[in-house]
Amino acid sequence: MSKAVNGFSKLSKLEKIDWLASNFFNEAKKNKEILKQYWNSNEVLQNLHDDFIENTISNFYMPFAIAPNFVINGKIYAIPMVIEESSVVAAASLVAKFWSTRDGFKAKVISTTKIGQVHFMYEGNKQELYDYFSSKKSALFSVTEEITKNMRKRGGGILEIELRDKTEDLANYYQLHVTFETVDSMGANFINSCLEAISNEFKKEDTQIVMSILSNYVPECLVRAEVSCKVDDLYAENAEILSQKFVQAIQIANAEPHRAVTHNKGIMNGVDAVVLATGNDFRAIEAGAHAYASKSGKYKSLTNASIENGTFKFWIEIPLALGTVGGLTKLHPLSKLALELLGNPSAKELMEIIAVAGLAQNFAALRALTTTGIQKGHMKMHLTNIIKQLGASEEEKAFLINYFENKTVTHNAVVEAYNKLTGG
Ligand code: MEV
Repeated sequence: MSKAVNGFSKLSKLEKIDWLASNFFNEAKKNKEILKQYWNSNEVLQNLHDDFIENTISNFYMPFAIAPNFVINGKIYAIPMVIEESSVVAAASLVAKFWSTRDGFKAKVISTTKIGQVHFMYEGNKQELYDYFSSKKSALFSVTEEITKNMRKRGGGILEIELRDKTEDLANYYQLHVTFETVDSMGANFINSCLEAISNEFKKEDTQIVMSILSNYVPECLVRAEVSCKVDDLYAENAEILSQKFVQAIQIANAEPHRAVTHNKGIMNGVDAVVLATGNDFRAIEAGAHAYASKSGKYKSLTNASIENGTFKFWIEIPLALGTVGGLTKLHPLSKLALELLGNPSAKELMEIIAVAGLAQNFAALRALTTTGIQKGHMKMHLTNIIKQLGASEEEKAFLINYFENKTVTHNAVVEAYNKLTGG
């Protein structure tokens, strides 16, 4: 309990670090230096980052990378990705190049509506509640007019307010189920403000409002992306057998949730990286995507594949509630830059790009898993990292990469080969 603190948020950044150093760090001086090392010397920029959240003591860097050559609906993109996992960007770049010579990716937004709910309890007569709701419905819209004014100008707003009887799931539980169109903004703040105004207007003595909040389950904010080509164009050798294995890999994910979770995790490697780079909320995207993967009652693959008349088709359907205005999108200089790189897309276009990033990542994973296995690619990255740590010259690097082409990469083996090469 001695490590408890009052008023931590009121301490200056340095005071916070000093307090941490004296309470938690064994190597206080060293750790204080590490934290300060990551401060940005540009004070304006640092202040901006400090203010994103409370109790900031430093910045946490993540690599910001580019996967070029993505052809989507005939347009070429260099996709920004923020991710720490080696091989994700390399895989995306390879797959982008591969499909760019096979007519590229096709993507289409299926729907764009979002949901918010006022959850409440009511023990009275059902018909009376429905009558009350009918009498109130137009007031529920008008009470939000001030909040929705700008959104309506942009073509969005509240599409529908329904009263839903949920008493079969939970005694006395009802909800106002509200459908929104938020155009180019993710809309979380907008939706929550509308819901609170609605619940305020709706409440009466015999209704107990429990909470008003948007839903991150957005099956009606859905995008589809796909690729297709002749089976013979998919693999240089054994095309028929390998494309069958690719389809079987998806069938296995649909049959076995243990595999489906890993399968979808690979998809989210691509999705999250672009979501983060563009300043969007990856937790919301993750929650919504996994709920959608379970929509049948069983957790399944978000991607699908078929082979018909010698044509291989591979596609994804994923809910993505994204924004290209508001939130962090324009506030974080790198998110702003990322969006500019993508040609300042609408939220719909960004949905298409991000669905493609997920599909591409899954393609890379399944192609590797059903042929050479993924460790080959991973070990290649591992090898280059070790070579870098050893400080090898370009010539030595080329020799070692060639030497390990058909050998198992371990740290010891690389050090040994390097020492032999350099006489160390
Ligand atoms: C690793 O981050 C992702 C994979 O495990 C995905 C998959 O197994 O499909 C390679």
